[in-house]
Amino acid sequence: MILGIETSCDDTCAAVVDAGGSIRSNVVASQGLLHSRYGGVVPEIASRRHLELVDVVVSDALERAEARLDDVRTVAVTRGPGLIGALLVGLSAAKAIAAARRLPLAPVDHLAGHVLASTLGPAPVEPPFLALVASGGHTFLARVEEPPAYEVLGQTLDDAAGEAFDKGARLLGLGYPGGAALDRLAQGGDDAAFDFPRSLPGEGLDFSFSGLKTALLYTVRDLGAQAAERRAPELAASYQRAIVDALLTRTRQALDREPQPARLAIGGGVAANSWLRAGVKRLADEVGAELWVPPFELCTDNAAMIAGVARFMEPIAYPGYLALDASARAA
Ligand code: KG4
Ligand code: ZN
Repeated sequence: MILGIETSCDDTCAAVVDAGGSIRSNVVASQGLLHSRYGGVVPEIASRRHLELVDVVVSDALERAEARLDDVRTVAVTRGPGLIGALLVGLSAAKAIAAARRLPLAPVDHLAGHVLASTLGPAPVEPPFLALVASGGHTFLARVEEPPAYEVLGQTLDDAAGEAFDKGARLLGLGYPGGAALDRLAQGGDDAAFDFPRSLPGEGLDFSFSGLKTALLYTVRDLGAQAAERRAPELAASYQRAIVDALLTRTRQALDREPQPARLAIGGGVAANSWLRAGVKRLADEVGAELWVPPFELCTDNAAMIAGVARFMEPIAYPGYLALDASARAA
């Protein structure tokens, strides 16, 4: 069994996954409420909270898996990218658990976790496949042939799609993180009420979302507070449609380049979005691609996806990992 630990941002996560990719447990202690009053994640507060929670979350993951530390063969942990202090708490906990038992340790790329989340569970996607990953910090299209490696085909040049959702939600007074709330508000609105830009920069497969956020800012300002509040569902729907359209357009272009029949998997927190989920389904039907849409708990940050990546890695034997450092930036 593989014990996974993930603390790259504001969720303290631990999971137990077996070598066949079955998820025995997947525990997430969310710090969302703690940070919501600040309108964003406060790194120092996140680190301290991880420190308080990590042991409890690991024990809980083992208990729910009906496993003991003796059953664990490898400890997998997110090495980066993410908040450096937050990452260090998870990495230190993982080193301590592994070193005490002379177990090997697998340092995992958080983004590989999102890319490969669909390789877990009873009906896993098999490589080669295309992955659309859209989260709070990252948005990219990747091609997977030999996991855990993946080739980035295009990525956002500025804001991530989740960031666009969160900033839009804040402009509409929905709190932080607001992606899910904006999704709910959009359900009752006309998505053609406002014409927001679908920015598709360059000839390749890159994304850009910063102009969209500015367009919403100006629209809300021009409407004035009262009208903006009254028309909030239309604003949310039109804004969400613009983000989802941009994601789908690039995904379609990437699928067209794939050997047919193509396979598509999605991941990252924004993959929880209802219109994106419906949109990729329609797109896959239209182009004749096979589609993997993970359950919500595998889209947002979790440790099962981190343990899952370790299945494809050669872990570092004890004591080779003791001096290993976390990395705030993508490898
Ligand atoms: O993958 P994730 O949990 O953390 C990162 O690695 O960033 O993604 C979090 C992001 C946030 O921006 C959040 O607003 C967004 O995912 N999100 C959503 C939805 N649920 C979460 N965005 C749009 N619609 C949703 N239903
Ligand atoms: Zn993430």
